Formats: sequence, structure tokens, C-alpha cells
Amino acid sequence: MPPDSSTRVLVVGATSAMAAETARIYAAHGARLFLTGRNGQRLEAVAEDLRVRGAQAVETAMLDVTDHRRSEEVMEAAWSAFDGLDVALVAHGVLPDQARCQASVADAVDALEVNFLSTVALLTPLANRFEAARGGCIAVITSVAGDRGRQSNYVYGAAKGGLDRFLQGLRNRLFHAGVTVVTLKPGFVDTPMTAGLKQGPLFASARRAGRAIHRAIERRRDVAYIPWFWHPIMAIIRALPEAVFKRLRL
Ligand SMILES: NC(=O)c1ccc[n+]([C@@H]2O[C@H](COP(=O)([O-])OP(=O)(O)OC[C@H]3O[C@@H](n4cnc5c(N)ncnc54)[C@H](OP(=O)(O)O)[C@@H]3O)[C@@H](O)[C@H]2O)c1
Repeated sequence: MPPDSSTRVLVVGATSAMAAETARIYAAHGARLFLTGRNGQRLEAVAEDLRVRGAQAVETAMLDVTDHRRSEEVMEAAWSAFDGLDVALVAHGVLPDQARCQASVADAVDALEVNFLSTVALLTPLANRFEAARGGCIAVITSVAGDRGRQSNYVYGAAKGGLDRFLQGLRNRLFHAGVTVVTLKPGFVDTPMTAGLKQGPLFASARRAGRAIHRAIERRRDVAYIPWFWHPIMAIIRALPEAVFKRLRL
């Protein structure tokens, strides 16, 4: 079902390549968007692009998500800007260097902060608002990396896996208030985050990911793998017995 022109959409981490692609689709349908980001210039560039593409209104707010007090304020501002929200997409994240996380407590904790705790801090006031309004959709980008811990990125995987479990509980709670919680699990997507990785056939474009994210939100899916082919891949990876899995170099 295409979103109608009155749809009110919050995007946290709106300068993310995947989030910006998703927001473009909402803009083309004339939605009203509230965007947050920590880089003012890039945030304004995304906002301008969405205005040109047909958004009915675009508001912006600066937010570094590690500032929890500010997060709470901005979530309230986003809720008030259009007198409520229909969709909240939470997209920010960083891909930490696993070796550095193993060597430094600070790096490991930072990775958990940005990829997990910051989102819990955002979702706590937001979930209460949606619950009281008795409708709407909260969509959060986690990762296939959260499905199983691997030696090459288990700190990031732990953050995304923890987030996945948090969203599962939130979905169960908010279901009874008519609110949908969508867990989005991308595999490899060609964005600035993965610029340092060697690209292979499993990489998807940010545009494709954006389309799939939009579709998953509009269909009010519980969990969506982005693109879809990660669903069977991760089913196999999850099914491998631990006694076998621990021997692999992944
Ligand atoms: N690309 C992949 O292969 C892949 C795979 C699985 C999951 N994901 C997840 O997909 C989501 C979107 O990432 P992407 O691939 O679109 O990468 P991206 O373009 O690099 O976007 C990452 C975004 O996170 C923002 N961010 C990071 N730390 C922040 C902070 N402390 N406060 C506010 N914003 C912060 C960045 O802001 P700045 O612009 O200011 O840096 C940027 O907008 C992330 O949650 C990521 O973990 C990505």
C-alpha cells in the first residue's frame, strides 16, 4: 500500500545511505519527514534533496545519538513537529574494527554504545509515545551480523543481536497497542560504512536496500532480511551446530 501524502516519518541517522534512499521514496509520495543527523551540512543536503523530490515538509534536528538526554529531547520534538508520527526509522550505526575492540575496552564499549545502547535510549520515549497513540510503526536497522557471533565481528554482532532481542520484546509489548515493530536485517550493502570492504556478489546497492526497507515498513513485516536472499543464507548459518561453527574461520 503506497503511503499517502499525510504520512509523518521520523528518520534517525538520516544521512545514512540506506536511510536516505528509503526517505526518497517517502518524499516522492509527498510525506512529511523529520530527519536527525550529527553532520549539519550533510543533513541539510539530504533534507534539500527530499524537498526537491516532493516531500510535503522536511524538518531537521542535529543529534549525536550517544547524547541520551539530547536524544530524548529530539524524540519529543519529532513527535510534536507534525502532531505525532506514523513511522519512525532508526538507521544510525558504525562498523567497528574488531581487532581494535579486542585490544581496547573503550573501543568495544563505544561500539556497543552507538550500535545498541543509543537505540535503546531513543526507543524508550518513542515507544511510549507510539503506545499512547495506539498506532504506527517503529522500524530499526539491525544486521545479519546479529544472527550469529563470528570471530571477525562479534562486538558489532553482539550489539546488533542485543538490539534484535530488544526489538523482539518491544514488538510483543506494542502489538497489544496496535503498533508494529519492524526489524530490518541487511546483509552487505554498498554504503560508506562498507567502503573499506572488498565487494562480492552478495553486495546490494543502497538503492535496492532502501526499496526493500520501504516495502518492509509499508507491509508491516515483523522481520525483514535485506535483500530477501539473506533469509535462507542466515537460516543455514543459524542451523549449524556450535561444535561445527566454532571450528570455522568466519
Ligand atoms: N552497509 C552494510 O553493509 C550494513 C549491513 C548491515 C547493517 N547495516 C546497518 O545499516 C545502518 C545504516 O548504515 P549504512 O550502511 O547506510 O551506512 P552509512 O551510510 O555509513 O550510515 C551510517 C550512519 O550512522 C550515523 N552515525 C554513526 N554514529 C552516529 C552517532 N554517534 N550519532 C548520530 N549518527 C551516527 C552516520 O552519521 P554521519 O553521516 O554523521 O557519519 C551515518 O548517517 C546501520 O545501522 C548499519 O549498522 C549496514
